[in-house]
Amino acid sequence: MTALSDSVLAEAADGFGTPCFIYATSAIEERIGQLRAAFGSRFALSFAVKSNPNPALLGWLNRRIDSLDISSIGEMRLALAAGWDAARISFTGPAKRADELREAIAAGIGLLIVESVREARAADTIARAMKRVQPILIRIAPDSVPRGFGDHMAGRPSAFGIDLEDAEEALDGICGLPGLSVQGLHIYSGTQCLKAEAIVENYRGFLAIFESLCARHAIDPRTLVFGSGLGVPYHDGDTPFDLAAVAEAIGPDLDRFTTAAPFRHSSLVLELGRYLVAEAGYFLTRVVSVKQSRGTRIAICDGGMNNHLPASGHFGMVIRRNYRMHKVGGEGAPEKIDIVGPLCTSIDRLASGVELPRVEEGDIIAVHQSGAYGLTASPIHFISHAPPAELMVVDGELRDVSRFFDEGADTGSLRLRA
Ligand SMILES: Cc1ncc(COP(=O)(O)O)c(C=O)c1O
Repeated sequence: MTALSDSVLAEAADGFGTPCFIYATSAIEERIGQLRAAFGSRFALSFAVKSNPNPALLGWLNRRIDSLDISSIGEMRLALAAGWDAARISFTGPAKRADELREAIAAGIGLLIVESVREARAADTIARAMKRVQPILIRIAPDSVPRGFGDHMAGRPSAFGIDLEDAEEALDGICGLPGLSVQGLHIYSGTQCLKAEAIVENYRGFLAIFESLCARHAIDPRTLVFGSGLGVPYHDGDTPFDLAAVAEAIGPDLDRFTTAAPFRHSSLVLELGRYLVAEAGYFLTRVVSVKQSRGTRIAICDGGMNNHLPASGHFGMVIRRNYRMHKVGGEGAPEKIDIVGPLCTSIDRLASGVELPRVEEGDIIAVHQSGAYGLTASPIHFISHAPPAELMVVDGELRDVSRFFDEGADTGSLRLRA
């Protein structure tokens, strides 16, 4: 993917301050182009807002991808404010509250992804009260996930979707609800996979599940969602998977599938977050102080885990490994150094023993693969540092697209009964 040059990164840090995130729209455009070239019209693309809900980014994506997937009503509000039509939005999530269902259905959400019979009944009651019939997909949790996925949402006890073993009975119950129109199925079983064969095996498993469930239930399979699982190389030694090889291997299966009678009019959707945006983003943090401590050189920076939890290794990583990073304007002899953030906790660490050109006070460290699960996945309130800026490079222009957090809001009060 097209990287941003050090002069752009330095300009961003000097012009807008650090810490900050910077997103290169050219890199996202390139990635969308690669996906369209690999799969042609076999897959529509849906962006998982949870991976990066920046409003300007959502607005920019509007004319470039087919749909959005949200997982809270907050994400729906951001998407609508960014200009998305509710009809092009789907809503996943295992704990949708009644007020969220009400707001989403009232807004005309395109597809509600129902994750349990309980949720289906709640949505049915709400839709009928509004005299509506809400289009839904039913989320299925397969009983296995191929080896090679960084995180599993199925194949073991899991909060997500209806377990495949329970699907027969559950689907019978859901398909008869008059306030809902079942328009297909949804599977998102695993994420962050860098193995082409495992990705293909996973999709083949989805096809088998779609085929067998649609054959036995009154489902008009207009939309079938494939939770992509497509991963990105976060660490040295990680190899990107071969997208062309995935497309070449699964293409004939998809073509066979969509020429069979029940699926001739089905739209297959690839739902993905990190693969679209992670590599387009950098996190920039500036060295405030360098300490030599008992034989270890430590760069203490103005932003760390509070801004970028995943890079600190506390977002599902089993063994902490350094994200790829570099020193902006990287002159100097290579030297091992630890990179830590400003928090008063020893877990605020962005790198252990990373080899960089000698790092000094004032230097900027650029953490790669930071366009997904950066700010949105981070405990920004801890120790009350100001939130980092968010910048976007669009058509050669550097724009401040920061989300503002209202720290002083009066949240009201409630008189205690007792
Ligand atoms: C339902 C659903 N869709 C999409 C995604 C996006 O995953 P990724 O960013 O790995 O593509 C997730 C990730 O947790 C998810 O749970």
